[in-house]
Amino acid sequence: MRVLVTGGAGFIGSHYVRQALTGAYPSLRDAEVVVLDKLTYAGSESNLVPVAAEERLRFVRGDICDGALVGELMAGVDLVVHFAAESHVDRSILGSADFVLTNVLGTQTLLQAAHDAGVGKFVHVSTDEVYGSIESGSWSEDHVLEPNSPYSASKASSDLLARSFHRTYGLPVCVTRCSNNYGPYQFPEKVIPLFVTNLLDGKPVPLYGDGLNVRDWLHVDDHCHGIQLVADRGRPGEIYNIGGGTELTNRELTERLLAAVGAGWEMVEPVEDRKGHDRRYSVDIGKIRTELGYEPRIDFETGLADTVRWYSQNRAWWEPLKGRATLTGR
Ligand SMILES: NC(=O)c1ccc[n+]([C@@H]2O[C@H](COP(=O)([O-])OP(=O)(O)OC[C@H]3O[C@@H](n4cnc5c(N)ncnc54)[C@H](O)[C@@H]3O)[C@@H](O)[C@H]2O)c1
Repeated sequence: MRVLVTGGAGFIGSHYVRQALTGAYPSLRDAEVVVLDKLTYAGSESNLVPVAAEERLRFVRGDICDGALVGELMAGVDLVVHFAAESHVDRSILGSADFVLTNVLGTQTLLQAAHDAGVGKFVHVSTDEVYGSIESGSWSEDHVLEPNSPYSASKASSDLLARSFHRTYGLPVCVTRCSNNYGPYQFPEKVIPLFVTNLLDGKPVPLYGDGLNVRDWLHVDDHCHGIQLVADRGRPGEIYNIGGGTELTNRELTERLLAAVGAGWEMVEPVEDRKGHDRRYSVDIGKIRTELGYEPRIDFETGLADTVRWYSQNRAWWEPLKGRATLTGR
């Protein structure tokens, strides 16, 4: 069994790889895991250090848009788990070309190579942001796609390409659409690690607009567990929402983060709202729960406490990355 994991040096992809290589997923117990990652500012081989000595891991630095390389790596692959993406909404607002290249063209390149090589399963890791914003209730998988940021629009485009490769060529593709993730090894530009690392350094934290935007927070381990259920037993051609974490406004999240590091509200610096800021995300997870027996397993309080502890104990991991984020000027 050979698995190709794209973006396996990023936040979620590296969690999946570490789990896969330490026995968390029985169907992958003896699998060879090939990681294809470009190592953009968001990717780091240091995320794979805990499994670096594992003989079943092969790391390839390269671009998913490189058709020749992707074609070569796809030979003999049974399962593709496709995480690689430009993933930060704020960066997509400043400039969206890289998002279209990687998220759309990169996905098409992988789908074509997977079809040519006859891979057994292709899991395309997408996001709930493709649905847009919802005032009340939750999205089921057949809800219309109304993405509002260049990031979510590029992800929606890649979702539709994935679907088309199933419809047109019968490629066994599944799409997962997950809510906001948190956990260790998340690049310190995303809200939870940004706030935690700022507070650990005694710096203020920037809160967008009125702070009342709502997100559903899911531990990265629950996301990867859901992805593996889909990889093992998801029906080809189907979409599965993953979520069921804890819905919080950004103000509520900020309060919890301040409490976790013993800081007060005076550390909060209100900033102008993000352009096109989605108000609320909420996925209905009835389908993956009923079909595949998925349940989130990590409660938010425990997961957040563990995550804050991880950042406080792993300065050597995030301090150079914060420098890298600033250097880009974005
Ligand atoms: N973070 C979340 O809350 C969340 C929620 C739902 C879905 N997702 C999706 O999950 C996936 C992973 O997200 P993440 O938070 O781990 O992102 P991330 O930014 O931490 O990691 C992305 C990885 O992809 C790599 N990469 C980027 N462009 C590449 C290219 N052209 N070729 C090869 N590798 C490339 C980067 O080097 C990095 O290692 C993305 O597809 C994202 O849309 C993320």
